[in-house]
Amino acid sequence: MKCLLLLCFCVHVVFSATFEYDDYGYKKPFDPRGHRPVVGGTERYNMPVIAPPPVSRGGSYQSRPTIAPLRGALLKAKVEQPDAGGCLHASEQMGVLCPTGCELKTSILKQERNVKTVIVEIKRDVNELSRSSNAVNSFVTGLSGHLRERQRLVDDNGNVVTTYTSDLEEQHVFIKETVDTTFPSNIRHLQQVLETIRNKIQKIEVAILAQRDKCNKPCTVSCPIPVVSGKECEDIYRKGGITSQMYLIQPDGFFKPYKVYCDMTTLNGGWVMIQNRQDGSVDFGRRWDDYRSGFGNIASANEKGFCQKPGEYWLGNDRISQLTKMGPMEILFEMGDWSGSRVHAKYSQFTVQGENSNYLMSVAGYSGTGGDGLLSGAKELSGENRTMTIHNGMMFSTYDRDNDNWLAGDPSKQCSREDGGGWWYNRCHASNPNGRYYWGGPYTRQMAKHGTDDGIVWMNWKGSWYSLKTMSMKLRPFFPSR
Ligand SMILES: *[C@@H]1O[C@H](CO)[C@@H](O)[C@H](O)[C@H]1NC(C)=O
Repeated sequence: MKCLLLLCFCVHVVFSATFEYDDYGYKKPFDPRGHRPVVGGTERYNMPVIAPPPVSRGGSYQSRPTIAPLRGALLKAKVEQPDAGGCLHASEQMGVLCPTGCELKTSILKQERNVKTVIVEIKRDVNELSRSSNAVNSFVTGLSGHLRERQRLVDDNGNVVTTYTSDLEEQHVFIKETVDTTFPSNIRHLQQVLETIRNKIQKIEVAILAQRDKCNKPCTVSCPIPVVSGKECEDIYRKGGITSQMYLIQPDGFFKPYKVYCDMTTLNGGWVMIQNRQDGSVDFGRRWDDYRSGFGNIASANEKGFCQKPGEYWLGNDRISQLTKMGPMEILFEMGDWSGSRVHAKYSQFTVQGENSNYLMSVAGYSGTGGDGLLSGAKELSGENRTMTIHNGMMFSTYDRDNDNWLAGDPSKQCSREDGGGWWYNRCHASNPNGRYYWGGPYTRQMAKHGTDDGIVWMNWKGSWYSLKTMSMKLRPFFPSR
């Protein structure tokens, strides 16, 4: 009897303790991360060396004249796609996006088998759990019946065992209460969670089937390049290319022209998109060489065959550096959460040095609605902890090339390894636009590969444990506005 009571009590405690889970079954942490606190001993945090300020003078643009749009001409007179019907990847070695190189497609095909086994396993677990929760339920109901029977017998025996009876009654009341209220509601709750998970699994299975269907046929989109091209997107805009789409740009005569997505509508347009996240289709946990030369998909075609939708990509540090050294450049971060809110952060100056300086970045002049993510650190942190999250003046780091400000030379202390992408990590970040893509927004330490906030994070907007749905970075030459 005592054991049974104890068991009931334990189960009760366990069930109550897990009461705060959401429909995925985990609690959400709210503590700020981003930094790597000094844990005592002789270790010190070294303030970053003062970096050279960003380029703020020079530049050839006057304020923008009235633009005569090319409109019809732009869309009709187009150069045929040199690579036989497909967009090139940002890095040309990667080949044509469609029909041969769709990165999403290949990676989905590659991952499908894994996902499928995992789903089969989860499904089995869910069924198992469901069966055992049913079993617990009937066990508990049965128990209650036995107790009633026992009670009856005890009553029949009259006052022979009065003390024992009152003891038992007490216990019975306790057990009955547990059985009648706590267990059923806990089990019902558990069953709801299971049902939700089962529905989700079903959806995933359908989605996988649909994906496989889609990937069976080669895609047939082509991406014609507009006739108008220029040094960068502002140049193109001033020449009349005022629709947002993929263009060819050539910032300087010594570089080969390359494709880029130009945003011609946001804040008067003229923006070179250098980074974009929107659906998790491209892996950003890449090597130094990939970040140097760029990766991902510049654009994808809409129904009319124009590449008016940007893909997920990183333009490449060499190109970004070269663009930002031509003159004063402003940079715009635009981001959105999973409920449709959108904010931005703009910096009036942004410069990235060349590879021999490990792409040292300097930035100035914040304005915007999303909070500063580069200059002043995470506002949830204070003192030294906050200083550790400043990005201004940092060099670029990838998991295979550590230039961060966290104990150089210690391979277990590398921001990029823990935080999922290449970035201008300090020790480590207030913003992590190249982090891992988490579907849905909130994520936890347990979900993160290294227990750190490795999502697409902008701490001063959503904190460490919310991964944004969309994130993009765009450059435009700074010019006086009228
Ligand atoms: C830095 O952060 C750690 C935990 O992350 C905390 O224990 C410590 O008190 C913080 N230091 C300051 C100066 O806020």
